[in-house]
Amino acid sequence: VKGGFDSFMDKEIHDQPQAVADTLLGRTDELGRLKLDELRIDETILRSIDKIIVVACGTAAYAGHVAKYAVEHWCRIPVEVELAHEFRYRDPVVNEKTLVVAISQSGETMDTIMAVRHAREQGSKVLAVVNTYGSTIARESDAVLYTHAGPEVAVASTKAFIAQITATYLLGLYLAQLRGNKYIDEVADYLTELGRIPGKIEEVLARQEQVREVARAMKDTTSVLFLGRHVGFPVALEGALKLKELAYIHAEGFAAGELKHGPIALIEEGQPVFVVVPTPRRPTLHAKVISNIQEIRARGARTLVIAEDGDDDVTPFADVVFRYPPTPTLMTPLVSVVPLQIFAGELARAKGYDVDQPRNLAKSVTVE
Ligand code: M6R
Repeated sequence: VKGGFDSFMDKEIHDQPQAVADTLLGRTDELGRLKLDELRIDETILRSIDKIIVVACGTAAYAGHVAKYAVEHWCRIPVEVELAHEFRYRDPVVNEKTLVVAISQSGETMDTIMAVRHAREQGSKVLAVVNTYGSTIARESDAVLYTHAGPEVAVASTKAFIAQITATYLLGLYLAQLRGNKYIDEVADYLTELGRIPGKIEEVLARQEQVREVARAMKDTTSVLFLGRHVGFPVALEGALKLKELAYIHAEGFAAGELKHGPIALIEEGQPVFVVVPTPRRPTLHAKVISNIQEIRARGARTLVIAEDGDDDVTPFADVVFRYPPTPTLMTPLVSVVPLQIFAGELARAKGYDVDQPRNLAKSVTVE
């Protein structure tokens, strides 16, 4: 069942190229236009929505945070991302012009189910992005865009995250196409880039031994920080969550720009800090992250940098560099998260923990 891997998590990390390919499969017509037949929400409604609210928990919420950057950029619709349990118990401004997108691997997370019910009661249309066919969230929503990641068994979500980003990107491009924010050829270019992602994840996986070695050498570490900017920020949050839940180590993710507003006080000699660096082809964004690495390095941090191939600007300030192949900024989470997943899993294994069944956690949280 584990396909020759030591754990389901390992198998599922290796399933990721397929998860992206399968989520893309069959969603374009013969002219290369996106067609999402399963979006059974009237096109007039989809054209008229003036806000999207993503509701989700844990890793699925981080996928929503990534999607926000892309969907706002492509569609010019404001996107809010809210933890489902917070959404449910406040008084959110939602109405028939709001599209609520519920993201869930299991489709059975009670917090998210309650948020879906609440949104529908307020007159919003709810679109589910779920992995499990026929699950409660799929049944209770107005429409479902399935992620085709295949069954995810390990408690720590990996391939579902990658598939959720892929599916929400399809949704964003579809809305952009429908609302005329992007023309067919631009949408086709982004789809081509998404189509290249499976091969790029393979390339990152081919370099995993470097990550594993570093993780094993860090098995006695008690605290790890993660920094990112733009789409690298939710990737940092996800890297920290993986490490907490699998290796039971204090781990925190920050927006790199937030450092000087507080977190930099945590940096002391030898503090390990992962930094997710964007492509140097976005010079302004890139330069900001490089200067953040310099700031923490100057205060003694041990920097573990995730950077694009050929990005030499990081080298003078990095203790370790994990590389990913050149990827457009919005697509980088799909490759840059992979070393963080491998790192967390390997460190947990080195500590002798069960990576598929971390303590105190269930695969799907069916109580509020
Ligand atoms: O099944 P769901 O996607 O709704 O689950 C949401 C979270 O419980 C889940 O992503 C959780 O955070 C994972 N264990 C993280 O690895």
